[in-house]
Amino acid sequence: MSETDWEALKLAAMDARSRAYAPYSGFAVGAALQTKNGRVFQGCNVENASYGAAICAERGALVAAVAAGERDLVALAIVGGAERPTPPCGICRQCLSELAPDLRIRSYTDNGAFTDYELAELLPDPFDRTQLE
Ligand code: THU
Repeated sequence: MSETDWEALKLAAMDARSRAYAPYSGFAVGAALQTKNGRVFQGCNVENASYGAAICAERGALVAAVAAGERDLVALAIVGGAERPTPPCGICRQCLSELAPDLRIRSYTDNGAFTDYELAELLPDPFDRTQLE
């Protein structure tokens, strides 16, 4: 497994954030998701005039990875614009948990402060495929 270069992952998330489409909230978010073999997939939030149709940066990165054939996901960097690091929302926690329940997450403010999370601590008892049995 490749090590996580958090600095590079943060820069990739900042780069994605620069392309966020957030005219309604004004809250731009970028994400960068690293796969086990070292590839990085970016996402940014994409909002909509139908507000509920907004897609978060984290899910954007997730679907980009899956569409490229990558499902082995190890680390996620997030960059938001709040004073405190932005934790992933509940829907994103659920979506990430489907493929990467042990994901490591580092969320940054845009001035570089960060908080580390484990997805398993953010979503301790996920609804997963075993509940469908
Ligand atoms: N948002 C994200 O992209 N990721 C998060 O972790 C939290 C929220 C987006 C959704 C919406 O476009 C805007 O931030 C405000 O909620």
